[in-house]
Amino acid sequence: MSALPIAILASGEGTNLQALLDGPAAKGMVRIVGVASDKVDAPALTRAEAAGVPTGRFPASDYADRAARDLALADWLEGQGAELIVSAGYMQLLDPGFITRFDQRIINIHPSLLPSFPGMDAVGQALAAGASETGVTVHFVDEGVDTGEVIAVSTVPIPAGVSRGELEEAIHAAEHRLLPEVVTAIARGEIGIGEGSRR
Ligand code: GRF
Repeated sequence: MSALPIAILASGEGTNLQALLDGPAAKGMVRIVGVASDKVDAPALTRAEAAGVPTGRFPASDYADRAARDLALADWLEGQGAELIVSAGYMQLLDPGFITRFDQRIINIHPSLLPSFPGMDAVGQALAAGASETGVTVHFVDEGVDTGEVIAVSTVPIPAGVSRGELEEAIHAAEHRLLPEVVTAIARGEIGIGEGSRR
């Protein structure tokens, strides 16, 4: 079986990118053919470069609007040969044209059990709500904010008195397990992507 070519979108630290580099990519299940960011100095880009992965920088200031930026981003990703796009801490909404072009080929990791706590600061939302558990969701990306079809979830308990830092750490640990698992299952064909995969 040949390795599935995947690309990652990341705006920040890139610890989920690192989990993919160290897991499915190191095992030869996937080939990371590019890492793209809206932030020209995102630490995720440094991680990619250290691993010899090509990087693309797409700051909003270089483009007239989101549609123009995401057209350039899509052209670059396609040029890299990506068959799956993994949004891992990418802090931008994707243009509808981009989503249509990669229909059912974009997945996102979100730090809550969707549909609870979508959007920004999901960890803060869970703490403010006094929830007893939260978690991590991997889902297909559609035009809404964290509304696409759920692929897999992992639950994280919220013990009484837990600090925000402790909860964030537990959620990151769950992300670093779940995202490589899902990407591996996609690479093995156990989870379908692309045209006709909609359940
Ligand atoms: C993760 O918690 C992800 O769920 C959220 O942003 C964070 C990114 O972390 N959307 P990293 O850049 O992968 O370290």
